[in-house]
Amino acid sequence: MANTDQNNPNRVSGPFGSLREYIDAVDKLGQVLHVDKVDQDAYEATGFMYQLIDKVGWSEAPIVSFNKIKSGGRWMDGPVIGNPWGRWQYEPLAFGVEAHGYDQRQLYKSTLQQLETRVDKDGQWPAVEPVEVSRQDAPCKEVTLLDDAIDILQFPFIKTNPADGGAYINTGNVILEDPKYGRNVGTYRCQVKGPRKISVNPERNQHGWTFLMDMKDRGEPFARAAVVIGADPIVFAMSSSKTTRLGQDELKVAGGFLGRPVEVVKCETSELRVPANVEMVIEGEIPFDFEPEGPFGEMYGYIGEHKPENFYMNITAVTHRKKPIFINNFTGIHRGFLTAPLEMTSNLNYRQRFPNVLSVHFPLQTPGYCFIRIRKTNADEAMTIGREIATSLKIAKIAIVVDEDVDVHNFTEVMHTVGARWQPYQATEIIEKAGAMGGDPSSPTRGSGSRVVIDATRKRPDEGGPEVYAKMNRECLLAEKPDILSHINDKWGDIINGWKS
Ligand SMILES: Cc1cc2nc3c(=O)[nH]c(=O)nc-3n(C[C@H](O)[C@H](O)[C@H](O)COP(=O)(O)O)c2cc1C
Repeated sequence: MANTDQNNPNRVSGPFGSLREYIDAVDKLGQVLHVDKVDQDAYEATGFMYQLIDKVGWSEAPIVSFNKIKSGGRWMDGPVIGNPWGRWQYEPLAFGVEAHGYDQRQLYKSTLQQLETRVDKDGQWPAVEPVEVSRQDAPCKEVTLLDDAIDILQFPFIKTNPADGGAYINTGNVILEDPKYGRNVGTYRCQVKGPRKISVNPERNQHGWTFLMDMKDRGEPFARAAVVIGADPIVFAMSSSKTTRLGQDELKVAGGFLGRPVEVVKCETSELRVPANVEMVIEGEIPFDFEPEGPFGEMYGYIGEHKPENFYMNITAVTHRKKPIFINNFTGIHRGFLTAPLEMTSNLNYRQRFPNVLSVHFPLQTPGYCFIRIRKTNADEAMTIGREIATSLKIAKIAIVVDEDVDVHNFTEVMHTVGARWQPYQATEIIEKAGAMGGDPSSPTRGSGSRVVIDATRKRPDEGGPEVYAKMNRECLLAEKPDILSHINDKWGDIINGWKS
């Protein structure tokens, strides 16, 4: 049964022409909570997001739209959006995929399968060259601010946590161009430093970092950059994830997912091209002397380090729509972007290396874990695959390998499997040194750490497992009554699916 239409038979499907079209479509499903006013100087928006997600769960919580917000002593017009990508259901909606399934998880898995059918035989997504439009046809140019008219303190960029170093633009997509690599679009947080100054924070070895350091090493006085705010869901997902490699243009790959070219427009103060449909563009120059930045409450849910030296940008122009929408990422509280393209790409990559890898899932709302589902055919296979993925994927601090009957998108089921099938002494490998995610608070030095690989597959006798592996209760039920679950769904699905706490 296809049930992407379950909430509204007149649902509008993506890909959407802009962020605001996407938000409108979710609003039509009744899944945007509109909150009239919040005082963020008293951290009400942050408290609201914690309460909502604590009570409803990250995968069920709706989008929140704060219509007016007080920040830095001023009441400002929003909306400021929180949790824009929370539910898995929004992935098929945004990618325009006809997904099938009874619940959020199934819809997400179906989206992964559908997206996979669109890549070419080399696992590459079709790239579509962006097309340029005139500034009259670019919604992001409805208002242009130059010189003294520029004052980004008038916009609701907020301080999310009292321990943050200040207010942040934390969903900006930073666009850079380089003769060697082409264009890069990356989401890096930008601390608001003054009316015409922000910091720009590509972590070490991010593509943006490589671009900027190469320019610095070439002796260029500064880099021209544009920070795009409120891109459509697909451009935002490309900018926020390693779906593309260094030298691949995120806007071209986004065009492949969109099924049409991304429309771009020339900046006011540089030759850079930016997506025309966005809410706001902040243009500027990044010189190569550095300034302090941070700290910032990071995705692991811990406050990061204060950085004595970081990139910053002098703002040369701001253009925006008439009533721009802002997104604040309540980092460490909700999901940060639509993850299906990233997950699909990493699945394809690992399957090319190991044909018996069926799926790899790293839940970004609980960073640090990676669940690997395999069809095990020989004794050492699970550990070999687990070791390789744990060392090549920074987020996979705890890599758990499971058999093909386990749903890696079901956290509880994976934990249950570990409890039941894993023998710690027999099936664990600790890797002493590996790269680590920048925000991991347990790292002895930022960017480095260790790994554990847990082989939670059923151990065969030649791996020291039992001669006869016990059957599962569920397996026995289904052997006797193969149709029991679909029968229950047909008979009582309405009661079960409609139950809410
Ligand atoms: C809301 C959000 C904020 C992010 N902030 C940062 C950041 O400040 N620095 C960073 O290096 N990566 C950050 N990331 C992750 C990068 O966007 C991601 O790794 C992306 O692949 C970077 O682009 P690049 O691969 O072109 O370097 C953030 C992601 C999201 C979704």
